Amino acid sequence: MLRRRFHNPLDPTAKAFGSSVTEDAVLLAPDLLSSLAHVRMLRRQGLLTSKDARALIRVLGGLLGRARTGTFALDPDLEDVHMNVESEVTLVLGDVGARLPTGRSRNDLVATDILLYLRTALLDIIERVLDSQEALLHHAEGASGRFVYPAATHLQDAQCVYLGQWLQVHAHRFARDAERLREIRERIRTCPLGSGAVAGSSLPLDPRYTAKLLGFEEAASNSIDAVSDRDASLETLLAISVLGVHVSGLAEEWVLWSTSQFGRLRLDDAFVTTSSLMPHKRNPDMAELLRAEAGALTGLATAYLAVLKGLPLSYNRDLQVGKRIVIEGIERARKALTLLPTMISSAHFLPPPKSAPGRATASVEVANALVEKGVPFRIAHERVAQHLRDVEEEGGVPFGTDFGRWARDFPELSTAGWKVPSPAEEPEVRRTYGGSSLSEVRRDRNALRTALRNMRSYASVERDREARIQARLCSGPL
Ligand code: ARG
Repeated sequence: MLRRRFHNPLDPTAKAFGSSVTEDAVLLAPDLLSSLAHVRMLRRQGLLTSKDARALIRVLGGLLGRARTGTFALDPDLEDVHMNVESEVTLVLGDVGARLPTGRSRNDLVATDILLYLRTALLDIIERVLDSQEALLHHAEGASGRFVYPAATHLQDAQCVYLGQWLQVHAHRFARDAERLREIRERIRTCPLGSGAVAGSSLPLDPRYTAKLLGFEEAASNSIDAVSDRDASLETLLAISVLGVHVSGLAEEWVLWSTSQFGRLRLDDAFVTTSSLMPHKRNPDMAELLRAEAGALTGLATAYLAVLKGLPLSYNRDLQVGKRIVIEGIERARKALTLLPTMISSAHFLPPPKSAPGRATASVEVANALVEKGVPFRIAHERVAQHLRDVEEEGGVPFGTDFGRWARDFPELSTAGWKVPSPAEEPEVRRTYGGSSLSEVRRDRNALRTALRNMRSYASVERDREARIQARLCSGPL
């Protein structure tokens, strides 16, 4: 197709190499929406009769229905989604179909399609991130949120906290992800369609009307910028890489916690697999796959940066390779996050073991109690360290108040009757803003709930808006 300029047909290997129909499948609906807006604009500008415009809208709307039901298969021989749509429309409408690409290039079209695709993909991902947050907060609110476990630094037991506070960390990370994705989505405000191949058009197009129909805030102010700008794609890949890193942190933790050594978590049967050899195994394969997605996503973000780097203005076919990378990243993130909320909500946390745990994690509390008796902190720290060292050498119990060593090492505490908090009591003694006490953990959770509610209402308002834009493009008055 489009070979009249040449003597020879495209080499079959070049044809196969140059085809983007596989990844373009996700651009089919956006491409039809772009075309519907373009047709309406052409009609308004007198570049199409209303009869022709009506015919085009009817056929494009029908194709949109087929796109939704997956019954419009793209032909790889037609190179890309744009030529597939054009050829289908021309097949049905003949010369009227041949008017569709008036004043338009695949350069401004693909740039617009990608933005429309990103606009809904970002909403999908935000909603799945919110579902994951919801699942975490549900656990944090329930009985398991009150289980007390040592928080770690350097993967070493540090200070005891409620499990709820720990789970809320992941909810915070996801809240920041949702915020970031929303900001990127809100920056998608400029419509490239109408910029043509690179320099606009000598036909009386009205790009601002097209932009309005497609729900953008403005038309591109510079046609050269419009056909070459891929910032939204890049930002999305970067943001989902950050999201991937967050998911991988949670996944890694759950892989560890579901081991017999940690014993803090039982993943639901629905999310574990067994070994083909060892029938006792409950392998956390899904968590492992999620953990690895971060590697894939950061790799894709790096690959995209490398494709974009040093490209001359304006459109270059390199951008097609980039487009495949962007779509792969987004579809991977979408898939991973479809599974994550259910994996989280179906998991069972296990209570900490009943056998008397040591009180070593109260070391800071002992030092702080000395500070309250007037001892300088560094000296208190050294005295506690010396106590722990002596106890270890003697094979005793750290802060064992029944033993003489306690009274000898910390006379000012033992005479005052000060009690070392047990692990279960520990979280409550830290009442600073953002600390481990129950009231702080609750306050933190309430703040997360509020942010979650706000983001949910953003997503649902935007969903409605997308639906209205599409309905108007298909059946609004001409
Ligand atoms: N398939 C192309 C892409 O994905 C569409 C734009 C092609 N433009 C061109 N001048 N060959 O980028």
